[in-house]
Amino acid sequence: MIVASKRFMRDLFDLSGRTALITGAASGFGEAMALGFAEFGCNIVAADIAFDKAKNTASRVEELGRQALALRMDVGQPEEIHAGFLSAAERFGGLDILVNSAGVSPHEAAEDTAIATWDRAIDINLRGAFLCCQEAARRMLPCGKGSIVNISSISGQAGYPRGAAIYSASKGGMDAITRQLAIEWAKRGIRVNSLAPCQFMTPGLREVMDDPQFDPEKLMQTWTDNIPIGRVGEAWEIVGPALFLASDASSMVTGVSLPVDGGYLAR
Ligand SMILES: NC(=O)c1ccc[n+]([C@@H]2O[C@H](COP(=O)([O-])OP(=O)(O)OC[C@H]3O[C@@H](n4cnc5c(N)ncnc54)[C@H](O)[C@@H]3O)[C@@H](O)[C@H]2O)c1
Repeated sequence: MIVASKRFMRDLFDLSGRTALITGAASGFGEAMALGFAEFGCNIVAADIAFDKAKNTASRVEELGRQALALRMDVGQPEEIHAGFLSAAERFGGLDILVNSAGVSPHEAAEDTAIATWDRAIDINLRGAFLCCQEAARRMLPCGKGSIVNISSISGQAGYPRGAAIYSASKGGMDAITRQLAIEWAKRGIRVNSLAPCQFMTPGLREVMDDPQFDPEKLMQTWTDNIPIGRVGEAWEIVGPALFLASDASSMVTGVSLPVDGGYLAR
């Protein structure tokens, strides 16, 4: 028997009155999710190392009638994460949603990978995401509710060529943390999930295409050949899956890594 909720089903995706802190909100997925969540009523803390662009995201959120705060936050620096969450709390009080979208994708052949590249990418993609989860949980646990969405990648679950060892390690680690934290916090009201996108046309992906070690046409051909839907994604196409995981629409979903990959991982 389905137990009827007191909520109207059409409100399941409603984020009115909630606050989301989104790292990497200055560009690509992070920017798209900030604007998309704002359309569904959410106030946004736009955190990014690129402060001017984060301010631009925040202004556009305000144009949509929501409240916004731009933060300069390098998620590779623990003290900046701590300070950023304090500023967010001063402005908004509680925190309902965290999205970890800040990330870098170095491409170095495994045999040539420099320790400094490894350290910086792992510090940003993996340790940074974990520390943001920790800061968010310290605010969500006392309220007994919250949703965390980690932007992982298909490379967390599948290997691919082109020197992606560090990136794959960081995203595989992110998926492991997602499962672990989901279980640790499940009975205390926090859900933790990740999204596993294939290639999406964001400024970050354009940087990869502009990398002189690659031929951009061949790269695009390889990507589209491997994505059953036959094309790369557009940034806005992450918003629906992210909104699903962030909102009450997914109230019984935790600990999953949801592919957003045009069928890539189904092959
Ligand atoms: N675009 C894709 O094809 C794709 C596919 C799978 C996963 N992802 C993941 O999605 C996330 C967003 O990627 P995107 O494509 O939107 O890239 P993007 O480069 O357009 O955006 C990434 C944002 O993260 C910010 N950032 C980088 N380092 C940071 C740091 N140390 N502290 C704070 N902010 C920092 C950048 O300034 C930028 O605004 C990343 O985690 C990436 O790994 C992207």
